Amino acid sequence: MVAETVTIKKLTLADAEELLALSKKTFFYFFAHLNKADDMEAYSTIAFTLQKIQSELNNPNSHFFFAILNDEVIGYLKLNYGPAQTEFQDINAVEIERIYVLAEHHSKKAGHQFIDFTIKEAAIKKLQYIWLGVWEHNQKALAFYKKHGFEVFSSHEFILGSDKQTVC
Ligand SMILES: CC(C)(COP(=O)(O)OP(=O)(O)OC[C@H]1O[C@@H](n2cnc3c(N)ncnc32)[C@H](O)[C@@H]1OP(=O)(O)O)[C@@H](O)C(=O)NCCC(=O)NCCS
Repeated sequence: MVAETVTIKKLTLADAEELLALSKKTFFYFFAHLNKADDMEAYSTIAFTLQKIQSELNNPNSHFFFAILNDEVIGYLKLNYGPAQTEFQDINAVEIERIYVLAEHHSKKAGHQFIDFTIKEAAIKKLQYIWLGVWEHNQKALAFYKKHGFEVFSSHEFILGSDKQTVC
């Protein structure tokens, strides 16, 4: 597959509705068939409201980006710095909290470009490492991260609705 260069655009509050729609769409698309409908709905009701997305966009330590290919938004990335990180809150680190590419655009290296972009951002900010959490059963993402040099260093529980899951 020939890689196509995506444009990476930093989001502002004006992008909240488009980001909300994409966040919900990708979350259900990739995880609904692997989880109970009640758990998906319970999580989505809290995580994917316009108010929540707006407050995340307003957080100066969280940065969102769209990947745009031929004028179409094909994915998004959320990076957290300092106190916005969901764990550790190490000022020398950046967390990739969300990285999603629409299924019809997988394996075109958009995900790879998001990782490259994060590495450059980390270098500009003189950070020492990049970390993320991934569900232990998300084999595709695990393969993707391994390929990009990530290693498992810890694990914790993640609650999806009423379901306790292990994230590493
Ligand atoms: C993980 C993700 C962002 C990668 O995006 P992408 O644009 O497809 O990634 P790239 O094209 O740069 O790299 C593809 C790599 O992912 C892995 N991959 C892609 N499709 C795969 C599949 N069907 N099975 C296993 N690994 C696969 C491979 O390592 C592949 O490398 P290759 O193309 O050289 O074989 C994307 O798969 C995605 O959005 N997944 C669903 C959401 C998700 O799980 N996000 C992470 C949450 S922690």
